[in-house]
Amino acid sequence: MQQAQETATLEEIITPIKTLWKFDYEPHIKALRDLYEKAKKEQWNAASDIPWQLETNPADVGVIAGPGGDPLDGCNFMAELSDEQRSELDKRRSAWTLSQMLHGEQGAMLCCGQLVEAVPDMDGKLYASTQVIDEARHVEVFHRYITRLDQVYPLMPSLKQLLNAVLGAEMWQKKCIGMQVIAESLAMGSFKMMKKATNDEVLKQVVELTAQDEARHVSFGLIYMKDELPRMAEDERDEVEDFALAGVSMLASPENQVKNGEFLFTLLAEVGADTDAAAAELQQKYSDPAFVAALPNPFRDYVVPQLERVGLITERTESSYREMGLLN
Ligand SMILES: [Fe+2]
Ligand SMILES: [Fe+2]
Repeated sequence: MQQAQETATLEEIITPIKTLWKFDYEPHIKALRDLYEKAKKEQWNAASDIPWQLETNPADVGVIAGPGGDPLDGCNFMAELSDEQRSELDKRRSAWTLSQMLHGEQGAMLCCGQLVEAVPDMDGKLYASTQVIDEARHVEVFHRYITRLDQVYPLMPSLKQLLNAVLGAEMWQKKCIGMQVIAESLAMGSFKMMKKATNDEVLKQVVELTAQDEARHVSFGLIYMKDELPRMAEDERDEVEDFALAGVSMLASPENQVKNGEFLFTLLAEVGADTDAAAAELQQKYSDPAFVAALPNPFRDYVVPQLERVGLITERTESSYREMGLLN
C-alpha cells in the first residue's frame, strides 16, 4: 500500500549533470558575491514570519488574475452562478493556481541544487546554495497556505514540460535561463498580480516575502547570464537562445494557452456551471485580439523583457516571439 502511494507521488528524471569542483575560492563576479551577502541577510522563517494565527476567509483570497485581469469577469455564464458557486469556484481556482506555484517552487529547489554542482564559479555555487533554502521555504509556505483553502492540485502539463526540460538539460546555462530567467520572471509577474488581487493578510505576507526572494533569483540569472553569454561559442549561445524560445513556447504559445485553460472547465463542471455556455462565450471573447491584448500577460510583461535584456532574443528568434503576441 505504502509502495503504491509512493509511486503515485514520486517521479524520476535522469539528468546528465556534470559536477564541477572549484579550487579557486576568490571572488570573480563581484555582483554575485554581493547578491550572496544580500541573500544571507534577507533570510526569513516560513514557520514564524507569516501571521498563521490569522484565519483565512476564502472569500478574501480573490482569484489570482486580479481586478480587471480575470477573463471570467463580466461573462454571462458567471452571472448564472449563485454566490456559493462563485465563491467555491474562486477558492478552487486559487488553490489550483497556488498549486502550480508550489510545484514550481519544488522544481526551483531541485534546479538550484543542480546549479550548485554544475556552475563553474565559486560565486555562482555560493549564491545558488542560498537559493536552495529560499525555495525550500517557498515550498513550505505555499503548501501550508493551500491546505487552508482546498487540496493540492496536480502540476499542469505545460509547466511540467518546462520544468522537466530545465531539470534534464545538460548545459548549466540552459538551466540558468530556463529557471532563473524564464520561470522566476513568470513567478515574479504572478506574485505581483496576486498581491493586487488578494485581501487576505496571510496571503499578502506570503507573496510579499516570497517575491522579495524571487527578485534576487531573477537578478542571479541576469547577472550570471550577462557575464556568461558573451564568453560562449556562437553555436552554444544559439542553442541557449533556442532553448529559451522553446521554453516560452511550451507555456505561452496560443495552442498551449488553450490547453492550459482546460483545468478551468474541470473546476467549472465541479461547481455545477454550464460548461458548454462557458466554452462558447470564452471562445468568442478570446477571438477578439483587443480582449487578449488587454489581459495581463506575465510572459509579455515580465519574461520577454528579461530575455531581451540578456541578449537572448535576436533576429534568429524575434519573429517567433512576435507571432506569439509577446513582442511588439
Ligand atoms: Fe521560489
Ligand atoms: Fe525562486
